[in-house]
Amino acid sequence: MTEPLFREVAPIPLDVASCNGSYIIDKRGKRYLDFIMGWCVGNAGWNKKVISDSMKKFSGPTYVSPTYKYSRWEVLAKKLVSLMPQKGYTCFRATGGTEAVELALKISKAYNHRNKFIAFDGAYHGQSLACLGLVGIHEDKFGPYGESYIRLKLGDWEETTQKTVDAINRGDISAFISEPILCNLGVIVPPVSFFKEVRDACSKTDTLFIMDEVATGFGRTGKVFGFEHYDVKPDIVAIAKGFSSGYAPIGATIADARIAESMRFDFSNYSTFGWHPLAVESALANIQYIGTRLIKNTEKMGSVLSDKLSEFCKPEGKGLCIGFRIKNPNLENDCRNDGLLINVMGKRAVLFPALDISKNEIEKAVKIIENNF
Ligand SMILES: Cc1ncc(COP(=O)(O)O)c(C=O)c1O
Repeated sequence: MTEPLFREVAPIPLDVASCNGSYIIDKRGKRYLDFIMGWCVGNAGWNKKVISDSMKKFSGPTYVSPTYKYSRWEVLAKKLVSLMPQKGYTCFRATGGTEAVELALKISKAYNHRNKFIAFDGAYHGQSLACLGLVGIHEDKFGPYGESYIRLKLGDWEETTQKTVDAINRGDISAFISEPILCNLGVIVPPVSFFKEVRDACSKTDTLFIMDEVATGFGRTGKVFGFEHYDVKPDIVAIAKGFSSGYAPIGATIADARIAESMRFDFSNYSTFGWHPLAVESALANIQYIGTRLIKNTEKMGSVLSDKLSEFCKPEGKGLCIGFRIKNPNLENDCRNDGLLINVMGKRAVLFPALDISKNEIEKAVKIIENNF
């Protein structure tokens, strides 16, 4: 029989009926403790009344065209650039992560007129052809992606750092792009020296340094942005996911204002649904709700989670962004049967609980993982 909905990702047997806080409830009424939160989407937690209410009460325009002015865009942009630890940034509207990353690449090209990018092989930055080309996913189906992409292999950090710096020093690369913590490679934390040396090489050669904060942004790692763990100043930052905690689709590309000037030509970018009015309200309410309170909780509960996991495995990560090597290849399914949602990718499991997770919930989750480990 022809299925009306084409499923490009094999569906997990979980028929979602509702969600609340750190829980997803299925059609049979079974409750699952969610330690994935839509892959770093639900930082604030699902169905928080203050965020939902701000959207329900909204009586502004149902849509505003990108060609008009809209005061709430100004409010959100001001808020967003104020969250950056350094000054001098501006931002562009987007509907999600792929669009935000794609825009980062476009800004780089418009800025230095170079055609090459360097990124981690097999990482993930989105589904557009350029985003797939960066990391080489599905080249057999959608490729060849061409000569524009240099892909770094994960391995010994000293060697990786040297190879990256050498490639950048050749002076023909438009931008280096990476997540500050490699969530999509199973949560790997590069050493501080890696990003510092790459940043220095980028500065010397006018290569742009892009941080993909789509997964790590908005408190996930115990800081507003993951790059803050490294004391580096990015030229461009791509955000989405935790920007609204999933209450509405929204993304943004934050760029050094001097670099962003290269996009000052007519129709340099256009996103029909970028910063839809309802999404703007959800992002503003979400940012306020996360505040410093949930970021502090992330730091504290991240330590609790790591300490508890250390009793039987070797967790790696920052804040509530944790990965570890698994022994049981069926760990994800076994945990789900016991009411806990985690993700396993290859030999690693990843955990991204809500930022307001409690000690009790962490203890409950770790017990389920240990029982099935
Ligand atoms: C690091 C990273 N960048 C980009 C994306 C793409 O975001 P979106 O699915 O909103 O297009 C994702 C999505 O998982 C991501 O994890």
